[in-house]
Amino acid sequence: MSRKAIIAANWKMNMTPTEARTFLDAFLPKFPEATGVDIVIAPSFLTMPMAAAQIVPNAAVDISAQNMSAEASGAYTGEVSAAMLKEVGTKYVILGHSERRSLYGEDDAIINKKVLAALENGFSPILCIGETLEEREGGKLEDVLRGQVQGSLAGVSAEQMANVVIAYEPVWAIGTGVTASPEQAQEAHAFVRSLLQEQYDEAVAGATRIQYGGSAKPGNAAELISQADIDGFLVGGASLDPESFAAIIQAGVDAA
Ligand code: 13P
Repeated sequence: MSRKAIIAANWKMNMTPTEARTFLDAFLPKFPEATGVDIVIAPSFLTMPMAAAQIVPNAAVDISAQNMSAEASGAYTGEVSAAMLKEVGTKYVILGHSERRSLYGEDDAIINKKVLAALENGFSPILCIGETLEEREGGKLEDVLRGQVQGSLAGVSAEQMANVVIAYEPVWAIGTGVTASPEQAQEAHAFVRSLLQEQYDEAVAGATRIQYGGSAKPGNAAELISQADIDGFLVGGASLDPESFAAIIQAGVDAA
């Protein structure tokens, strides 16, 4: 089954509104119309409204949030709701990033609530999963991925899975410059797909897009995306430069 690649920039806590404008002024003209891949940019909440004004009118690029509250509204200081994100034209929401898990205590139960809330509000969650080096070296890779997939997707229907993107991001490869080898990444992606087959069916497993994240860059993108079960990238550091993010997208377009 052929899946449309999805390549997303996770800007994390980088890019002020002014810096984002400079980036987008350079980046958006490179992709004036739809390409063979879905292109997504996830700015910080504060940068989103300004970035959305430039991104949303561009047919080739969509905007994503980096997080979202599972609650609809109310006394949740510092949180951002689905309704707020809808108003700026958000299409995707990154959920369960390893930095949210390790630095802000988000577990699979919290992430599951957010995934369900995102789907109920018409967003496509980009659900992040991935093991630490200690877990991988301790032979726990499959158990960790199984727990994250089952826990984060509890109660998500097969129909809703059409809107879910999974990002496999081995924690040891994030921001380290150490990329998973194409073989390591392919093996993990194929395993995640087998988990979807167990939890849903062959159709869901075959249709769900699984991105790779962790030191993805122009120099390794083509080889990674040529793997059978790698359907795009969630890019951190290399997405902060318009030229390098565009080069990663070009690898996806060339492979399509
Ligand atoms: P780097 O590309 O900087 O390793 O970050 C990956 C990531 O965490 C994307 O969500």
